[in-house]
Amino acid sequence: MITNFFTLTVLVAFALARRTCKVPAIGGGEDDGPAINAAFKKCATKSKIVLDKYYVVDSLLMTENLDDVEIELSGTVQYTPDIAKWSPQSLYLTYQNATTFWFLSGKDIHLYGGGTIDGNGQVWWDTYNNTHDSGTAGGSSTTFARPIPLTIGNATNVVVENIRQIGSPFWNNFVYQSSHVTYKNIRINTVSYSSSPTANSDGWDIYRSSYVTVEDSHVNNDDDCVSFKPNSTNIIVQNMWCNGSHGISVGSLGQYAGETDIVANVSVKNITMLNAQNGARIKVFGGNPDPESTVGGGTGFVRNITFRDFYVQNVDNPILINQCYSTNADVCAQYPSKLTISDVHYYNVTGTSSGAEGNVVVDLECSATCNDITATGTHLIAGGNSTSTEYICKNIATQDQLDFNCTAPNS
Ligand SMILES: *[C@@H]1O[C@H](CO)[C@@H](O)[C@H](O)[C@H]1NC(C)=O
Ligand SMILES: *[C@@H]1O[C@H](CO)[C@@H](O)[C@H](O)[C@H]1NC(C)=O
Ligand SMILES: *[C@@H]1O[C@H](CO)[C@@H](O)[C@H](O)[C@H]1NC(C)=O
Ligand SMILES: *[C@@H]1O[C@H](CO)[C@@H](O)[C@H](O)[C@H]1NC(C)=O
Ligand SMILES: *[C@@H]1O[C@H](CO)[C@@H](O)[C@H](O)[C@H]1NC(C)=O
Ligand SMILES: *[C@@H]1O[C@H](CO)[C@@H](O)[C@H](O)[C@H]1NC(C)=O
Ligand SMILES: *[C@@H]1O[C@H](CO)[C@@H](O)[C@H](O)[C@H]1NC(C)=O
Ligand SMILES: *[C@@H]1O[C@H](CO)[C@@H](O)[C@H](O)[C@H]1NC(C)=O
Ligand SMILES: *[C@@H]1O[C@H](CO)[C@@H](O)[C@H](O)[C@H]1NC(C)=O
Ligand SMILES: *[C@@H]1O[C@H](CO)[C@@H](O)[C@H](O)[C@H]1NC(C)=O
Ligand SMILES: *[C@@H]1O[C@H](CO)[C@@H](O)[C@H](O)[C@H]1NC(C)=O
Repeated sequence: MITNFFTLTVLVAFALARRTCKVPAIGGGEDDGPAINAAFKKCATKSKIVLDKYYVVDSLLMTENLDDVEIELSGTVQYTPDIAKWSPQSLYLTYQNATTFWFLSGKDIHLYGGGTIDGNGQVWWDTYNNTHDSGTAGGSSTTFARPIPLTIGNATNVVVENIRQIGSPFWNNFVYQSSHVTYKNIRINTVSYSSSPTANSDGWDIYRSSYVTVEDSHVNNDDDCVSFKPNSTNIIVQNMWCNGSHGISVGSLGQYAGETDIVANVSVKNITMLNAQNGARIKVFGGNPDPESTVGGGTGFVRNITFRDFYVQNVDNPILINQCYSTNADVCAQYPSKLTISDVHYYNVTGTSSGAEGNVVVDLECSATCNDITATGTHLIAGGNSTSTEYICKNIATQDQLDFNCTAPNS
């Protein structure tokens, strides 16, 4: 009893020692960005920041050098849809010309609180629909940057939980040059209410980062649910509900000649994938003879990837490997990919495809030989008007370790 009381007292003392910065909201549509940035500067170490109001944000949130900071977001952070202002002022990141509204950086950071991050995406999608003004790989251009609502960048030991994200103009979350980052209980809803579609509405993109976990989350969007970009290692994605997405995707990788891309040690488990273009996907560019190529020719590897307990419904390609991604078929045949794919395992992938690919439910096509690809517990039915199921394989060295019979692709 006495020990417990003592422990409690110490804990209370610690809690009291934490400096707290509560951020007021100006109201009337005025920019709360400067006050938020100021609070993060003042409360950058061993502190708590409270965001419990409705904030209008019209300037870049640069919250850096944080050390042991709790952020209670129980209110709403809503970014203004001011394209002319944000396009130059959002922070450019060094991948696919992605930019961000909020760069959250430092160590030992806990963001939580049940609040909302609102990207106000409708104006961006409507404008994009009519101008198609985009940078490389669908990313931002200097005149039309579609910023990412939350980037965890140059950070270690970060937990983001119990947050809602709506209306992202581009990817919802970017894990950038970070390690030991966990997201849980995140609800993402990126839905357009006009005739223009949303664009590049990925739930998560992970880049140059390791030890990242995404779990217990709910995603309604129209692009990758979670995507592992170059140099994503030691990743866990589990207990996810994804609707309308492009699947859980490794890649795309190998786009740039002279660059080495690695995705390794990925565990994807207990996924419900509904109304999607893909289920478990790996996409790698083909080779290219041009040393300056930006359409394939990169090297590296995809290794030790596990997809387990993966349920699909109305999904076009439940299981897909494409090692000639966005590559001219003739170029790819002559220059197979130099980015190897091996040690990929599918356990208990079940459910029904959409029928969009006819009878095909599995499509594993490598341009160079892929090694140690296995599947057990596969129970897939072709949906739509299909009457049987078909599994396509090309250059898979371990066809005998798949629990279905492969046929060669037509061409
Ligand atoms: C994208 O970024 C590259 C540099 O990484 C730059 O050369 C290019 O102009 C950018 N594209 C656009 C459309 O801004
Ligand atoms: C992130 O870290 C890299 C490498 O340490 C550095 O070059 C870059 O400026 C940092 N980015 C930001 C936005 O702080
Ligand atoms: C989106 O583009 C399509 C095709 O160009 C057009 O018909 C539609 O009206 C556009 N939607 C909006 C909201 O501008
Ligand atoms: C699997 O994920 C769903 C969310 O999609 C969750 O409700 C369920 O509890 C998870 N199952 C296990 C065994 O963790
Ligand atoms: C799931 O996505 C489909 C479109 O792909 C949409 O019509 C449906 O409303 C979504 N379901 C939920 C529960 O959000
Ligand atoms: C990925 O990591 C490898 C090995 O550390 C490195 O050589 C390569 O440059 C990295 N690639 C990217 C895109 O950061
Ligand atoms: C494969 O990746 C998992 C994490 O997903 C890791 O626990 C395991 O040690 C890795 N295995 C090898 C042989 O690298
Ligand atoms: C994968 O995990 C294994 C086992 O933990 C580790 O030895 C290896 O370095 C990891 N691979 C990468 C590329 O991080
Ligand atoms: C596949 O699912 C079955 C039934 O749910 C379970 O018993 C088995 O352990 C699973 N296999 C793997 C390899 O996860
Ligand atoms: C199924 O057949 C009907 C009637 O021929 C056709 O309208 C529909 O598009 C087909 N569905 C698919 C998924 O191919
Ligand atoms: C694969 O084909 C062989 C020979 O036709 C047949 O014996 C076997 O049952 C088939 N396996 C599956 C999983 O359909």
